[in-house]
Amino acid sequence: MSESYSPGLEGVVAGETAISTVETGLTYRGYAIEDLAEHSTYEEVAYLVLYGELPKAAEMAGFRQRLGAAAVVPAELIETLRRIPKAAPTMDVLRTATSMLAHFEPEAADSSHAANTRKTERLLAKLPVVVAARQRLKSGLEPVAADASLTLPANLLWMLRGQKPSEKGVKAMDASFILYAEHEFNASTFTARCAVSTQSDLHSGITAAIGALKGPLHGGANEAALGVLEEVGSVERAESWVRGALAKKQKIMGFGHRVYKDGDPRAVYLKRLTAAVAAETGHQDFEKMADIIESIVWSEKRIPPNVDWPCARLYHYFGLPKDLYTPLFVVARVVGWSAHIIEQLDNNRIMRPRSIYKGPALRKWKPEGER
Ligand code: CMC
Repeated sequence: MSESYSPGLEGVVAGETAISTVETGLTYRGYAIEDLAEHSTYEEVAYLVLYGELPKAAEMAGFRQRLGAAAVVPAELIETLRRIPKAAPTMDVLRTATSMLAHFEPEAADSSHAANTRKTERLLAKLPVVVAARQRLKSGLEPVAADASLTLPANLLWMLRGQKPSEKGVKAMDASFILYAEHEFNASTFTARCAVSTQSDLHSGITAAIGALKGPLHGGANEAALGVLEEVGSVERAESWVRGALAKKQKIMGFGHRVYKDGDPRAVYLKRLTAAVAAETGHQDFEKMADIIESIVWSEKRIPPNVDWPCARLYHYFGLPKDLYTPLFVVARVVGWSAHIIEQLDNNRIMRPRSIYKGPALRKWKPEGER
């Protein structure tokens, strides 16, 4: 076997994609994320990622109408959400719910391009319903039905709180969802592509991707990043905490990236927006604490923050519980995963890499008494 091995597959090209690239900043279907976050809505970007083009007015109206109609989940699923122990992390519940939704999906077994696109739209509409319903049930409240007049991120806030969110709040939520929507061959997307490369179905690919996203080195970092800030606790403690953590070679969650060594463009964009929300909601000290940590990690290690660093704070300023942060990432990313699943199946070859064997050399089997 010719050996070419890179731990963690660093630098390995594992496929082709027309969905996004990190080569020239981050672009989705050729559009810079900064442009999209500034001028588009999340729903527009979801359409772009899924269909390849920004929607015309009639296309957007049809898309929104279909999302609105699909924003319900079966009563059996609500009952399951009610029964899962309250202590279960929302990410685990969402993984179970995604798998369960497959049993009620009429086109579950049809993996054609068209059926997978329709199923993606339905999942896109249903996952926010799951996240909000579970959160409310866990808090002893009944679920709030989706409001078809609201956009997807606004609806999520509505279903969580039972209150219409402010325009500024929706804009910030929209931007975070746009920045989370898609990211080339990251671990969870690659997981989804691997799963369906066996000709498995879309829901299996998404369920597997949720499991991969959960880890704190990936999407779980947004919850872990807030954990860092909670542990630091005050502006006064920030410098000594971060210097102590770095001296112990501790990883600071929300920093570093496999590809972006000079800075994650999503973090750069979101920092400004997060600071504005902090000022509005009276969280300036929290921002100051984050800035001290950021500048010391940079001056000591030359490691910049990634998207999860400002996003964790943004969601905290919205008053959202930490356990929801990675599930919100799922809600935003499901369209990216699905677009990759569809692209993989359009030109599929099963993923089957090799390994370098490090185990014992060939040996003879021994009967039980001689072992
Ligand atoms: N804090 C302190 N040191 C770090 C950090 C960090 N967050 N990230 C990397 N390093 C150090 C690491 O210790 C290593 O140092 P040394 O060479 O002295 O051993 C060096 O930088 C290279 O790190 P690595 O872990 O080999 O890099 P990687 O490309 O394998 O991992 C990463 C990338 C994102 C997993 C890693 O930077 C990390 O664990 N970051 C913290 C978790 C995190 O924030 N993840 C979110 C990623 S982006 C968005 C998302 O997926 O949600």
